[in-house]
Amino acid sequence: MDFTTLAKKYKTPLYVYDFDAITQKFETLKNAFKARKSLICYAVKANSNLSVLKHMSQLGAGCDCVSIGEVKRALYAGIPKYKIIFSGVGKQDSEIKEALQKDILMLNLESEEEMQRVASIAQELGVKARISIRVNPNIDAKTHPYISTGLHENKFGVDLQSAKKMYLQAKNSPLLDPVGIHFHIGSQITELKPFADATKVLADLVRNLQSLDINIKFFDVGGGIGIRYKDEDTISTYDYAQAIFDSLSGLDVTLTCEPGRYLVGNSGYFLTSILYEKNNGHKRFVIVDGAMNDLIRPSLYGAYHEVQLLGERDGQTSKADIVGPICESGDFFAKDVELLSTKHDDILLIKSAGAYGFSMSSNYNTRGRAAEVAYSGGKDWLIRERESFEDMIAKERDLL
Ligand SMILES: Cc1ncc(COP(=O)(O)O)c(C=O)c1O
Repeated sequence: MDFTTLAKKYKTPLYVYDFDAITQKFETLKNAFKARKSLICYAVKANSNLSVLKHMSQLGAGCDCVSIGEVKRALYAGIPKYKIIFSGVGKQDSEIKEALQKDILMLNLESEEEMQRVASIAQELGVKARISIRVNPNIDAKTHPYISTGLHENKFGVDLQSAKKMYLQAKNSPLLDPVGIHFHIGSQITELKPFADATKVLADLVRNLQSLDINIKFFDVGGGIGIRYKDEDTISTYDYAQAIFDSLSGLDVTLTCEPGRYLVGNSGYFLTSILYEKNNGHKRFVIVDGAMNDLIRPSLYGAYHEVQLLGERDGQTSKADIVGPICESGDFFAKDVELLSTKHDDILLIKSAGAYGFSMSSNYNTRGRAAEVAYSGGKDWLIRERESFEDMIAKERDLL
């Protein structure tokens, strides 16, 4: 891919997504699951651009959504309703109602109270709600605390005992159809064991439920497969699938999973232009036109992204912080990286930016969100225009 040409053509800051790389990731995972019935529900939150979702639908993926907005995006992009899951710890009544009206595959429930709300809304609508329960198996995913979700100290899911009670209530309710079980223990997980342990805990529960005449059809192992940002040892999808299969033996369930980062993370790039350099005698700063409002991961989690200065040049490298124009000291993309000397309009490539990049972006400092481009088979397409000033103020009312 010629990033310099793309940066000149579409201007910066810019996101570029390699759709062929997304396809390859999807096929690898689907292939790893081929010994079983499976449904890969892409986690929309990772990158919710409509063209990305359309691409997922063409690959045969379903979607995991965490708001009714995401459900609507998925449907709009052509994902069939019977492949859409609605997860999330705090669904509003209006969201539950719309999801039931849209007749999606199932709602993943995270509390007893939520289940009661779903039942009463189902009654109002005269429907039976297909549900799944998110079980918190109290397993340490060994990832960053902000993206660890499977411990009792985290707000997500319900404990095993409560889950069992909820399944019994659901079974006895004419308004609920308990078709699934779910866990999601965290994101950017680079070890196999947490997945294997969580699957085992939930598989035992499914067997227990079978003896109570509750037959779970969808076993959802969530998302969380880690990717390589720097030098992480990631898990192979084959080993991941085998570890899950081992625990599921004897169970006739459709294996469902919700990968986000794995499918799009390394398929995306962020391009930013260099504005200035300055050195205060202690530190060298390279100031670029992209900022934390475009890609917040370094500021939010101290996340690492590999940066590369585009174009051939000679010279010696020295350490630099790569920073954006926003009025926050936390506005940086990299710290103390070795970089050749730069000049105005040089382009910097920031890698592994396809997941939780644009989707977490904002208008902070009244900066329009970056443009997004898709790349496939040597061709490129603009899939989201850069936001203008007019776009940013469109919803505001002038009271002056
Ligand atoms: C319920 C649920 N499923 C799936 C995902 C996707 O996770 P990842 O991008 O790590 O695969 C998330 C992300 O936090 C999530 O909350």
